[in-house]
Amino acid sequence: MNIKRKVQLQNYNTLSVPSVAEYFCSVNSKNELIECVNWAEKNSLPLHIIGGGSNVLLAPKITGLVIQCRINFKKIIDQDVDHIWIEVGAGENWHSLVEWTLKRQIYGLENLALIPGLVGAAPIQNIGAYGVELCEVFERLEGLKLSDKKFTSLSNKDCDFAYRDSVFKHTLKNQFIISSVVLKLKKNPCLKLIYPALQTALAQFKNPDAFDVFNAVVSLRKQKLPDPLATPNAGSFFKNPIVSCEFAAQLKQAYPDLPQYPQEDGSIKLAAAWLIDSAGWKGKEASGVEVHPKQALVLTNRAKCEVGVILAFAESIQRDIKQRFGVPLEIEPQLLGGGVLAR
Ligand code: FAD
Ligand code: EPU
Repeated sequence: MNIKRKVQLQNYNTLSVPSVAEYFCSVNSKNELIECVNWAEKNSLPLHIIGGGSNVLLAPKITGLVIQCRINFKKIIDQDVDHIWIEVGAGENWHSLVEWTLKRQIYGLENLALIPGLVGAAPIQNIGAYGVELCEVFERLEGLKLSDKKFTSLSNKDCDFAYRDSVFKHTLKNQFIISSVVLKLKKNPCLKLIYPALQTALAQFKNPDAFDVFNAVVSLRKQKLPDPLATPNAGSFFKNPIVSCEFAAQLKQAYPDLPQYPQEDGSIKLAAAWLIDSAGWKGKEASGVEVHPKQALVLTNRAKCEVGVILAFAESIQRDIKQRFGVPLEIEPQLLGGGVLAR
């Protein structure tokens, strides 16, 4: 266990906001994780957890101990005629995992290619892209429950997954550190091609396979989303809002081009990028924070401003969208350093 003091986290978050952690420790095993949590308890320090830092908004100063969970392993743990179960440590890189599965003819993650970050964070917001969400392939996870300091297994149902949501944002918020995840994948490809942009990208293929889907997703993402290494960002800054079907119908009359996605429960998901784009925000900039010219849902932070500057700009967008369309926009990345993990 190597606990460091006063660690600059600017290179630990893809938005490149400056942020100093009072203490920081990267853990490589479950034992080290327990040791760290005990150390924080002994020193009465609040705990925070970070993965690849691609979906966090870091406060300028973070009091307490920031733990990065780097438990690394991936293995096939079971199979039947159609399925393969893999267990993956929380510290594995998500995109490398997608490549690892495809190389072994294990299918189901191809639509989720190139999502930044680590495996341990994937359940937090139930990562999703191009017509697939993590919950569709998720079997269970293991992690440290802070209330009793025991490693506990949670099933798919326990995680209460929804669009960009899970139990870890509600009753288990700041209460659970994920150490590994089990996914149930397929031996034969079962391609999910419902996402319109993906369909268009694959139109040239007669019989696309899983590698074609993977390549198309990678290429679409590279066209639209800025590479955080070159242009700091946290992907979509806002969630796509979900509204009642009555309200969506009113909006459809006023704005026939607004993309609407019906949900299973009858509600309607709206394309926040379209709302922000048609309100004229694309390419607008304040203090070095910009609405990305190729994807209006992404805010970039070239000037490497502190989080407060980004939040002030985001608020002006939220106010404008609410005023014009009556639609509230919710911020997607998680604030770290404002709230604390229970000990
Ligand atoms: P972090 O940002 O470090 O953490 C995110 C949250 O998870 C924090 O609340 C943190 O405390 C918590 N956390 C992290 N690890 C653990 C753990 N082991 N145990 C408990 N809590 C933990 N997301 C999508 O869903 N779809 C996309 O298509 C997508 N595209 C993106 C594109 C870009 C360019 C970027 C920058 C981001 C994108 N994202 C997308 C968001 C992000 O990649 C995902 O949310 C990812 O899962 C975050 O992983 P991370 O390891 O970086 O987590
Ligand atoms: N659109 C615009 N203007 C823009 C961008 C998009 O009008 O500047 C329109 C598009 O024409 C399209 C619709 O908005 O009709 C949706 O756009 P896109 O397919 O790019 O997806 P999105 O809804 O903006 C979501 C996720 C992304 C994910 C993609 C692909 C959220 C908050 N965002 O974006 O996830 O990669 O779909 O599935 O759900 C992330 O969470 O960080 C993220 C990048």
